[in-house]
Amino acid sequence: MSEFSIDPAVAALARDAFWVTVCSGAGMSAESNVPTFRDAETGLWERFDPTELATPEAWSADPALVWAWYQWRARLVRGARPNAGHDAVAEWARRRTVTVVTQNVDDLHEQAGSEVTAHLHGSLFAPRCSNCWLPYSGTDADPDRATEDLHVEPPTCPRCLSPVRPGVVWFGEPLPPDAWDRAADAAVGCDLLVVVGTSNLVYPAASLPERALAAGIPVIEINPDPTPLSSAVTHFLQTTAGIGLPALLEHVPPAG
Ligand code: APR
Repeated sequence: MSEFSIDPAVAALARDAFWVTVCSGAGMSAESNVPTFRDAETGLWERFDPTELATPEAWSADPALVWAWYQWRARLVRGARPNAGHDAVAEWARRRTVTVVTQNVDDLHEQAGSEVTAHLHGSLFAPRCSNCWLPYSGTDADPDRATEDLHVEPPTCPRCLSPVRPGVVWFGEPLPPDAWDRAADAAVGCDLLVVVGTSNLVYPAASLPERALAAGIPVIEINPDPTPLSSAVTHFLQTTAGIGLPALLEHVPPAG
């Protein structure tokens, strides 16, 4: 039994929902020791602000710096394992229809066994050409090659010889349209939306729970700290992903 006590009204929402959409952000992976986006960086990268590195401007100014930072992040994620929250989402999908939409560029939902319907902000593991967008699979993109150096020259696209860039969405860039369409459909098609581990500051991802609420769909938010969304949601569970999601799952009977 979970130590976190769930209100009966919240338990009923979890029990009765047939289609659950889970919208996750960086806090989902915090208990897997992947630092959230707005955590201060430690060690080598502590003097850099992630919100400044994750920009087209930073890439134009110094591609080798940005590439090295993403290689470092990819290597960090490679060493991470899913936490009890990721596991609970995967198990929930064995009992009900669960659509996972994430802002995270890690693969911890997949490692736990979930199918991810939309990686809204791309993936650390899908580099592509910065010019012709050809996916890049060369070994130069292997995170294990990341050095302690703060500059690693990005590989070159075999087709057009332009630099290969991280396959992520930077501030100011549009979201992949297909992923966005699937996410928006899931937000208003489900009968319960669970938003977990996001500061709800970055749009358009932050509009997904707002769309669900506007459509009359209940929204449960899980976060140890209140966010701008917390006062609007149907229920706010002030706890971590690794505690709150298993606590909800306890109320979802196995299928069949
Ligand atoms: N469980 C759940 N939530 C947690 C946990 C935890 N264990 N630890 C921290 N959090 C919460 C924090 O309280 C915060 O609200 O996770 C949130 C993390 O916020 P951000 O780092 O801003 O992450 P996110 O909302 O996913 O950021 C959105 O910004 O730069 C971009 O593309 C990047 O996808 C990222 C986007």
